[in-house]
Amino acid sequence: MLPWFLSALFVLSSFFSHGYAQPAQCPPAPRCPLISPPPPPKPLINFTRPRPPLYPPSLNLMPRQPRRNPGPLSNRARILFITQELKRNITYDPNNYTHTWVGKNYCVFKGFYCDTVPDLNITGLAGIVFNGARFGGRFLNFYRFIRNLPDIAIFHANSNNFSGVINRNLNQLRYLYELDLSNNKFLGGFPASVLGATNLTFVDLRFNTYAGTVPPRLFNMDTDVLFINNNGFNKTIPATLGNTPALFLTLANNKFTGPIPRSIGRAWNTLLEVLFLNNRLTGCLPFEIGYLNKTTVFDVGGNLLTGPIPQSFGCMTKLELLNLAHNQFYGAIPESLCRLPNAYNFSLSYNYFSQVGPACRKRIREKRLDVRRNCITGLPQQKSAVECSRFFSRNTRSCPRENTFNIVPCTGVSNTAAASLEEEEEDEEGVVLTTIDEMTPPSPKTYAALAKPHH
Ligand SMILES: *[C@@H]1O[C@H](CO)[C@@H](O)[C@H](O)[C@H]1NC(C)=O
Ligand SMILES: *[C@@H]1O[C@H](CO)[C@@H](O)[C@H](O)[C@H]1NC(C)=O
Ligand SMILES: *[C@@H]1O[C@H](CO)[C@@H](O)[C@H](O)[C@H]1NC(C)=O
Ligand SMILES: *[C@@H]1O[C@H](CO)[C@@H](O)[C@H](O)[C@H]1NC(C)=O
Ligand SMILES: *[C@@H]1O[C@H](CO)[C@@H](O)[C@H](O)[C@H]1NC(C)=O
Ligand SMILES: *[C@@H]1O[C@H](CO)[C@@H](O)[C@H](O)[C@H]1NC(C)=O
Ligand SMILES: *[C@@H]1O[C@H](CO)[C@@H](O)[C@H](O)[C@H]1NC(C)=O
Ligand SMILES: *[C@@H]1O[C@H](CO)[C@@H](O)[C@H](O)[C@H]1NC(C)=O
Ligand SMILES: *[C@@H]1O[C@H](CO)[C@@H](O)[C@H](O)[C@H]1NC(C)=O
Repeated sequence: MLPWFLSALFVLSSFFSHGYAQPAQCPPAPRCPLISPPPPPKPLINFTRPRPPLYPPSLNLMPRQPRRNPGPLSNRARILFITQELKRNITYDPNNYTHTWVGKNYCVFKGFYCDTVPDLNITGLAGIVFNGARFGGRFLNFYRFIRNLPDIAIFHANSNNFSGVINRNLNQLRYLYELDLSNNKFLGGFPASVLGATNLTFVDLRFNTYAGTVPPRLFNMDTDVLFINNNGFNKTIPATLGNTPALFLTLANNKFTGPIPRSIGRAWNTLLEVLFLNNRLTGCLPFEIGYLNKTTVFDVGGNLLTGPIPQSFGCMTKLELLNLAHNQFYGAIPESLCRLPNAYNFSLSYNYFSQVGPACRKRIREKRLDVRRNCITGLPQQKSAVECSRFFSRNTRSCPRENTFNIVPCTGVSNTAAASLEEEEEDEEGVVLTTIDEMTPPSPKTYAALAKPHH
């Protein structure tokens, strides 16, 4: 055990009677470990961005006017054939799509969008937008449909009854860059053959009933958006996680087990928002999370995570929303975390934290830090002493790589323990409070992905 943990134990055995941080009774502040912070991990793959879209981004807004040249005859026949097959299979069409699917010019069909195919210089079927169409039928075979759309670039079909196994590679779909199959009827294992479409930048598979494991190479794909929340994935998160260049990543509301991979630090140059909430994650937070200095939203609420908060969290300078609530974290809340300038709503409630210093107390008064239902003596709405002591006596608390919990991989962040004791003497009178109500609320993008589309 490290001194840090010994000090936690000391506080633990004494705080019920003495309260927080009475300097005379505190053990000496732990020394910083004599290891230098590792260099920021190098990305394993070359991400060049922003990447120009293959088709104009205004695709959705294109007027659906008849085109003179709707593709080479073979492609045209193939698309018409498969569309009629799908039409026959659709037995429920509350938004009246299929009655427009007549004639030979599919560019005017409802939900179909044509554009010039870059490599052929002819008009082709570039987009399918069936979002919210709510198509029903005994078997709406997504794979059979899409693989007959050779020039497709975007396929958005959320909230339908598409299903079926995606059993072969989609690598012949050279332009496919956006795939939204959320809220359909897919089940079984992750559709790994989707990953053959290597130009995908937007992958939305949320709200299906996929289970089992997620293939490691998913995170090697050059995606901007990766939503796989609200499925039944129940294995560990692959160690490749940190290879993802995604800006927005949601793994929430699955049954993922095991720890958060330490490779996550590799995503520091791209990751803006990440949601792990409501899984079955265990273990301690890897200090590498502290490398994520562009991340504004980090949410691991409702898991089985434990350990203290690594000091490296004080380096997450852009962090606005932090949710660690409903886990089994313990120890002192790093003062550097509470000094992060963009802190808007940091929820650490329903854990076993036992110490807060002055900077954190300020955040609590500002209502920007929620520490309800912890084990902090002297604060309101804490867990009962019985519940706290039961937790602290139950098991030996330790994390792998304990030395790393004191690493601060950035400059300008002071060591917590020392700083908090110094600040203790600061005059509290002149402190300016900025409460949550006086701040401009952040506008996170990923939380919206946790609501079912078109419900
Ligand atoms: C990454 O890709 C860009 C553009 O293709 C290239 O200029 C650059 O040299 C590459 N970097 C590495 C490290 O391969
Ligand atoms: C679809 O068509 C039917 C009959 O033609 C009509 O009653 C219904 O209102 C239409 N629904 C929508 C969403 O346009
Ligand atoms: C594409 O085809 C049009 C006529 O259909 C022609 O005017 C144009 O030059 C072609 N563009 C290229 C890049 O070949
Ligand atoms: C679509 O799927 C849901 C759930 O499986 C089912 O209840 C519904 O009947 C299906 N709709 C049709 C028209 O098949
Ligand atoms: C249509 O239904 C048939 C019979 O279930 C199925 O074999 C076929 O794959 C389906 N095709 C499409 C495009 O849904
Ligand atoms: C992805 O796009 C590039 C550039 O347009 C192309 O060369 C490549 O073949 C595409 N990938 C697939 C799987 O078709
Ligand atoms: C994971 O899900 C699969 C498919 O539902 C199931 O067969 C397996 O038992 C589950 N594994 C665990 C560890 O829950
Ligand atoms: C973020 O971290 C990287 C690597 O650790 C560093 O080069 C960069 O300056 C940091 N950015 C900010 C805004 O601190
Ligand atoms: C703060 O975040 C927690 C956890 O995500 C959430 O439950 C709570 O509603 C948020 N509070 C405010 C004021 O946004």
